[in-house]
Amino acid sequence: MGGRRIWGVPVIAKPRGGLKLQRKPCLSMEVIIRDNQDAGCVLGAKIIARVVREKPDAVLGLATGRTPLRLYQELIRMHRAEGLDFSRVTTFNLDEYVGLPADHVQSYRYFMNENLFKHINIDLARTHVPDGTAHDLHAECRRYEDRIAGVGGIDLQLLGLGRNGHIGFNEPTGSLRSRTWLKILSEQTLKDNSAVFGSLEGMPKHALTMGIGTILDAKRILLLAFGPAKVRAVEHMVEGPLAAICPGSALQMHPRATVILDENSAAGLHYAEHYRWIDSHKLAWQRYD
Ligand code: F6R
Repeated sequence: MGGRRIWGVPVIAKPRGGLKLQRKPCLSMEVIIRDNQDAGCVLGAKIIARVVREKPDAVLGLATGRTPLRLYQELIRMHRAEGLDFSRVTTFNLDEYVGLPADHVQSYRYFMNENLFKHINIDLARTHVPDGTAHDLHAECRRYEDRIAGVGGIDLQLLGLGRNGHIGFNEPTGSLRSRTWLKILSEQTLKDNSAVFGSLEGMPKHALTMGIGTILDAKRILLLAFGPAKVRAVEHMVEGPLAAICPGSALQMHPRATVILDENSAAGLHYAEHYRWIDSHKLAWQRYD
């Protein structure tokens, strides 16, 4: 390819004024370690905000759980203070419990409405969460896949990481090529999420979730994992072998996956210094903050 290059990176002329360096995909898992969850979430929000600013009709894949709460607060702040505009954004959530209607306080639809959607200028008709009350759950899974394909796929998929390495509700040993499907939740996941339900008995044991193949189809992936409980899962995901026993390890195959950790969740990584070195030597256009 001809044209001007700076450090091997093609330079493309903007129509008016200045030059713009083309952003290249990372092509390997980008691991960023921040001091704490707060700093990690603020950075994650910056990455999402940049996607939305560059592509106002972006399609975002979203997650629930404790991990992204602070990130959503930061997006809300950016919307209010900086005018970050979600009016043309479309969203697809990863998963939903089977049997919980949208107005159930523990449903993921309710979580998203309460923690993000009602605080920003998003059109609710463009927000999608699998319907865990659908009469035909398999048909609902196929419909969800069709809807994602119908809008041209997901530009950025936000993920948390289960203590057992799950992404979405794809529990260990599930197929690495799976599409949106009905999953039985593992005992570990039920225990981890049971506090908000009051008891393990009262919890749904099944969920609809995007498959790992669905997640890997996203053009870009942003995974956040914080705290000591995630240390083993992080180690397996980043440095372990690619294996269905750790669904998160599938991200090793993605050409543009960014993983944001805090000091606690990164504590088991053998190459932590290498990731820090890479992070501190990024070119200006490779940085997010
Ligand atoms: C949530 C989801 C799950 C969570 C994971 C971590 O939509 O799909 O994979 O991201 O269980 O949960 P927290 O963030 O509560 O530790």
